[in-house]
Amino acid sequence: MMRHILSAHQFEESDLKKIFDITDEIKKHPYRWKSALSGKLMGTLFFEPSTRTRWSSEAAMLRLGGQTISMPFAASSSTVKGESLADTVKNCSQLVDILVIRHPEANSVQEVAKYSDVPVINGGDGANEHPTQALLDFYTIKQYFPDLKGKKLLFTGDLAHSRTVNSLTKLLKDVEVCYGIAKNPLMSKFDILTKMLRYTEEHALKQGVVKHNPTCGIWEEDIPDLLDTFDIVYMTRCQKERHIGELKPISEFIMTKELAEIMKKDAIIMHPGPRNHEISPDVDTDHRAVYYEQTKNGMWTRMALLWDLLGEHHK
Ligand code: NCD
Repeated sequence: MMRHILSAHQFEESDLKKIFDITDEIKKHPYRWKSALSGKLMGTLFFEPSTRTRWSSEAAMLRLGGQTISMPFAASSSTVKGESLADTVKNCSQLVDILVIRHPEANSVQEVAKYSDVPVINGGDGANEHPTQALLDFYTIKQYFPDLKGKKLLFTGDLAHSRTVNSLTKLLKDVEVCYGIAKNPLMSKFDILTKMLRYTEEHALKQGVVKHNPTCGIWEEDIPDLLDTFDIVYMTRCQKERHIGELKPISEFIMTKELAEIMKKDAIIMHPGPRNHEISPDVDTDHRAVYYEQTKNGMWTRMALLWDLLGEHHK
């Protein structure tokens, strides 16, 4: 059976357990896995810039003994000659065993996956989803907090446009989630929150993801006073490229060394990358900063996922 990885919604608790158990094994004995996918070929089709997602997907395949093909940049694909994305995907899927696709339009990867004859991994579709980032983020969180009940997580930055936040929230069932909100004179806290969450109230409640009321949103300027109450602070950059024709949300919260000191000793500071100015570089040496570990876990978890999708148990 072919399985596409398109949304973090897909991951049942048993899937997560399986992938994370394999991840632990791979991390412990990477050498034992060096030929696990020998002979398999991965293609990456990225129509948006990427450093971590593309490299860690490729590194994952190479470390499992497989190989990869990429496009140097989107303009080098035949979509600029008038080919539809669906046709590009159909053709490319004849040549490889798995595709990783990133595209600036929300839901585009889900749409074109239908045309692929091999599994498709969504490497990010617009502001919508980034399921493998959710995997690595959740894996990292679980390393520090195996039991998440009662833990508090704060998201900061450009939350309305962040696909990593949108995907991760789908896995955070036991966590109390709070959103740091930049002030907008035209909107109330509740309106901003609702827009940011991109959920209907009913949907959010059904997911059990957030308590959908204004108390799960705090103004960014109040964050410093509340920093010592959070176990996880997950920060994102301002997604300038997605602000076309929109009021630009100005995020003002910047994590500094002094502010990190206020946090609980065993709290963690996360960021999916690329970091802009929202975390000052002197926080990097603080033991609470785990963003480089996230990058590394991205490779380990993607190795586990690739094995799960393509390993010889499928023969
Ligand atoms: C993010 C992305 O591209 O969604 N980065 C990543 O994949 N690790 C976040 C971003 O672009 O800000």
